[in-house]
Amino acid sequence: MENLIYLDNAATSFPKPEETYVFMDQFYRRYGVNPGRSGYDLCIEAGQILEQTRRMLTTFFNGTDWTRLVFSYNSTDALNLALFGLLGPGDHAITTTVEHNSVLRPLYHLQQFHGVEVDHMHFDSKGFVDPDDIARRFKKNTKVVAINHASNVIGTVQPLQEVGRRCGEHGVLLVVDTSQSAGTIPIDVQAMNIAVACFTGHKSLMGPMGIGGAYVAEGVTIRHTRAGGTGVKSAQRTHLDEYPYRLEYGTPNMVGVAGLNAGLKWVLKKGTHAIHEHELALLARLRDGLRAIDGVTLYCQDDLTDHIAVLLFNVDSLEAGDTGTMLDVDHNIACRTGLHCAPLVHEDLGTAQIHGGVRFGIGPFNTEEHIDHAIAAVREIATARVRVPPTPAAPSPRRPGDQR
Ligand SMILES: Cc1ncc(COP(=O)(O)O)c(C=O)c1O
Repeated sequence: MENLIYLDNAATSFPKPEETYVFMDQFYRRYGVNPGRSGYDLCIEAGQILEQTRRMLTTFFNGTDWTRLVFSYNSTDALNLALFGLLGPGDHAITTTVEHNSVLRPLYHLQQFHGVEVDHMHFDSKGFVDPDDIARRFKKNTKVVAINHASNVIGTVQPLQEVGRRCGEHGVLLVVDTSQSAGTIPIDVQAMNIAVACFTGHKSLMGPMGIGGAYVAEGVTIRHTRAGGTGVKSAQRTHLDEYPYRLEYGTPNMVGVAGLNAGLKWVLKKGTHAIHEHELALLARLRDGLRAIDGVTLYCQDDLTDHIAVLLFNVDSLEAGDTGTMLDVDHNIACRTGLHCAPLVHEDLGTAQIHGGVRFGIGPFNTEEHIDHAIAAVREIATARVRVPPTPAAPSPRRPGDQR
C-alpha cells in the first residue's frame, strides 16, 4: 500500500533488496531446471547455485563442512527435523519461556506423544535466561538444550556462548533458533558450540519466504524422520545417510535458494554490524520517544545492549489489537499485535491476560522519519485512549530458575 510505514520486519523483512527480486527472476528464467538430477549443462549450472549458497551460509555461520548445510522450508521445518531427529523416549530437553512456537510445539509434541521430558527455564526481569540456571537442570538423560538466539517479542539476545560452553561441558547438544538473529547478530557455531543452527531465509537474511535450513555440526547425528527422492543413489531402499541429502527430501525450492543467495550477498555487502547499528539507533530513538509518552508501557527495553530492533509495548487501558488497528487504519503503520507465536513470553510478562502486546520490528530500510511518525501516532492514540480493561501495572517475570 502506498506510503505504508512497515514496522513488522520481525514477521518478515519487507521490502527485500532489489537484488533479491532481480536474481530470483533471472535465475528461474535462465536455470529453472531440477538441480543435481541429470548431467546436462543447465542442470549442473542450477546445482552450482545450490552449492554456492551452501558454501556462503556455512562460512556465514563459521561452519567447517559446507555439505552439512541443509535447506528446508523455513526455521520451523529445520527445528522439527532437528528436535524430532535428536530426541526420543527417555530423553530430557531443556528450553526457555522466551521461545517461539516453532520450538515450543515440537517439544510439546515430543513430551505428549514420544516420552520426552521437557523443562522450561524462565527469563529474568530484563529478558535474559541465566546459563547457570540451564546448567543446574542438567541430568544424566539431558540430550538437548533448545534455545532462541534473539526474541521475536522482547528483542533480547541470549548469551549463547555461555550456554554453549555449559552444554559442551556436559555433553549436551545445543539447538539454536536463529530466526531473528541471522543477518543482524554474528553467529559462530564453533565458538558457541552449537550442534544445530536453524535459520529462516525471509527475515534478516533478506531472502524470500519458503526457504530456510540448518547447519549441523560435525559429529552430530540427526535421525531420519522423513524419506524420499534425492536425485542420487536411486536404487537405495532407504533415505541417504550422507549430508546434505540426509536432511533434504524432494525437489528443493530453487527460487528460494536463489533469493536467499542474493539476500545474503546483500547482507554481506552491507555488513551485519552496520545493519545492526542502523536498526539499533532507530530502536533507541523509538524507545526514547515512546518512553516519554504518558500511559505507554514498554517491556524489557531499559538496556538495549544485547538486543535486536524489536520493541514490545502497550498503551495502558487499550487492548493491543485495538492499538494495532488504530495504527493501521488511522496512521498507515504496519505492526504485529497479540502473542506473537510466543505465548510463554507473554505469560511471564503478565501480558497474556490482556491478549499480548504491540510489536514494532525495525528493518534495514526503515528511517528516522518512520520512527518519528510511529512515535507521533502512539502519542495520539495514548492521549485519546478510551477506558477499557486496565493494563497490568508492570511486568512481573518469574524468577529465573522457577520451573513451569
Ligand atoms: C524467534 C522465531 N522463531 C521461529 C520463527 C519461525 O520462522 P518461520 O515461520 O520462518 O519458520 C519465527 C518467525 O516469526 C521467530 O520469530
